[in-house]
Amino acid sequence: MVDQRKILVTSALPYANGPLHMGHLVEYIQTDIWSRFQKLRGHTCTYVCADDAHGTAISLHAEKQGMTPEESVALINKERIRDFGDFHITFDNYHSTHSEENRELSQAIYKALRDKGHIATRSITQAFDPEKQMFLADRYIKGTCPKCGAEDQYGDNCEVCSATYSPTDLKNPRSAISGATPVEKESEHYFFKLTDFEEFLRDWTRSGTIREETANKLAEWLDTGLQDWDISRDAPYFGFEIPDAPGKYFYVWLDAPIGYMAAFKNLCDRRDDLNFDEYWKADSDCEVHHFIGKDIVNFHCLFWPAMLTGANYRTPTSVSVHGYLTVNGEKMSKSRGTFITARTYLDHLDPEYLRYYYAAKLSSRVDDLDLNTEDFIQRVNSDLVGKVVNIGSRCAGFIKKRFDSKLSSNNMIPELTATFQAAGDTIAEYYENREFGKAMREIMALADKANAWIDEVKPWVVAKEEGKDQELHDICSAGINLFRLLMVYLKPVLPAMAEKAEAFLKVEPLTWADNQSLLTNHEVNKFKPLMTRVEADKVAAMIEASKQVLEAMKQQQPAEESWLTKEPIADEITFDDFAKVDLRIAKIANAEHVEGAAKLLRLTLDIGGGQTRNVFAGIKSAYAPEALIGKHTVMVANLKPRKMKFGMSEGMVLAAGPGGEDLWILEPHDGAEPGMRVM
Ligand code: MSP
Ligand code: ZN
Repeated sequence: MVDQRKILVTSALPYANGPLHMGHLVEYIQTDIWSRFQKLRGHTCTYVCADDAHGTAISLHAEKQGMTPEESVALINKERIRDFGDFHITFDNYHSTHSEENRELSQAIYKALRDKGHIATRSITQAFDPEKQMFLADRYIKGTCPKCGAEDQYGDNCEVCSATYSPTDLKNPRSAISGATPVEKESEHYFFKLTDFEEFLRDWTRSGTIREETANKLAEWLDTGLQDWDISRDAPYFGFEIPDAPGKYFYVWLDAPIGYMAAFKNLCDRRDDLNFDEYWKADSDCEVHHFIGKDIVNFHCLFWPAMLTGANYRTPTSVSVHGYLTVNGEKMSKSRGTFITARTYLDHLDPEYLRYYYAAKLSSRVDDLDLNTEDFIQRVNSDLVGKVVNIGSRCAGFIKKRFDSKLSSNNMIPELTATFQAAGDTIAEYYENREFGKAMREIMALADKANAWIDEVKPWVVAKEEGKDQELHDICSAGINLFRLLMVYLKPVLPAMAEKAEAFLKVEPLTWADNQSLLTNHEVNKFKPLMTRVEADKVAAMIEASKQVLEAMKQQQPAEESWLTKEPIADEITFDDFAKVDLRIAKIANAEHVEGAAKLLRLTLDIGGGQTRNVFAGIKSAYAPEALIGKHTVMVANLKPRKMKFGMSEGMVLAAGPGGEDLWILEPHDGAEPGMRVM
């Protein structure tokens, strides 16, 4: 057994202002695989993350939803935890930067920096929205480009001619929030004196904590001269107030990385076996590893280590930087349907397909990685279904039918088995160094060897020959043992499939060290298919659905889930109240426009037994009348007829959705006949 290490792992804290998407998942899947690998190896590994809850983007998002930032963050948190869980991303703690632990740690770190003279204050002039009474960051100012005259450009650069400028150069500047013309206003800001840490950072960035390519990039910054970092924002700001500075708040990026510590602290307070100081004290011999994307390197490799060291905490053991996701060779695009949210993916496809695909594409480098939908289908089907699952299914049937579900006591291929076992060290090294692509190729090369051997010994032929029972038994048992070794190696990537394999093998949860043993004389269960093929039409359906999800986001409608949880539940009714409502399946026999009505359609409902009802329904925003004819709906059949402006309405139809275009009634369904009662 390798020496036991104490490892704390983090992924960047996702902003709480929108749904998780396929780009985010590169990072969380990468970190989860690494953390699972460490645990499987027997190390003490703790994986924490949190919502990044502060800042203007989050409070504006909340405002659009008609909520307080706290409410909006809480709602997004609930959706996230579900999304992460469904992708088998398993945090030991998922916290929030808007937490008591984070407030205390942020204020303490700030005070330590201040007391050592690393904080300066000075007055700066900034654009101010007189209507909203708030200062405007550059990206909240829009106007006409001073260079090319393009309209509607952001305050710091022009998307048309790529010019960069300061917002004061914009012609016709407007606040992107209220539309008001910004004015200039002065206020006092607090700065972290990054320049105090220049020497320290030169060493730190070259001490093996980050890859050379990233260190080279940082050297460019270090060489052109560091600048003090503005860490304060004026009220109104969703964040933590700066101690002894009323009306001044920490800029979100100050307390965000401290959120890593806060998430861990919150966990330590609940767990006897974890000690916060042991991990974070200056001379700690525990490890701290951050996984981040390439866009946030300066925060993690300059500001963060400087803050930590300035406040007398340890600095990270490593910062692993990954590239950006492209889909079919391009930036995720809303109109092409390649801006795919985590939830839309889950609605159509198995999360383990994606875990494997990303693993196969990931390296320790900062290169961008492409999700190519053709390649995705092909690779998952060929590797996982065609190679790995295939080994199990080729051997398991005979074990059950011919040998009473028991594996033989003899290993007929000691050499091949030894090759599989020895490969464990190489594969482990690849995982450790975040070379997941290389690890997957190594594992698939083993799977190829296993399949080639099975092709050679042909159990299906042996099975038909007289007196070859022992040989058949040995072949299939050896095949299943090879399959088991592959599952050990794939377990960090495919935890759900590994669990199914463990059930089939009738074994305790596999650990890495199990690659040194074999199953002999051991009873197994019936083999169920561990994974089915990726179907191309499901991938196409996911892309189609992504276009629609985006349509809804563009209209800035709350996400479905948010809407569902926001709508308050009505007053309680008794069962007797409920039983009085006669709900019936009705077929829409006819639907037509109503002269002069903006929202209503006139429906003729067939409720069986030759009876029809005339109902006015407010679903014109979602359905054209032609589209409704022939569909089914549920109606309240015993509602007292009501006289409306356009005629008598004899009931109500039920539809679901947040309103507008998004309202749904039932599609015709086998077995649901007009007139049936709904219960
Ligand atoms: N809140 C900050 C991180 C604070 S960490 C103390 C943030 N949030 S984010 O939601 O924008 O991004 C979270 C992580 O996802 C980042 O590491 C970011 O690089 C990564 N990704 C976001 N979009 C991505 C792609 N399209 N592709 C790959 N990774 C991407 O940054
Ligand atoms: Zn321009």
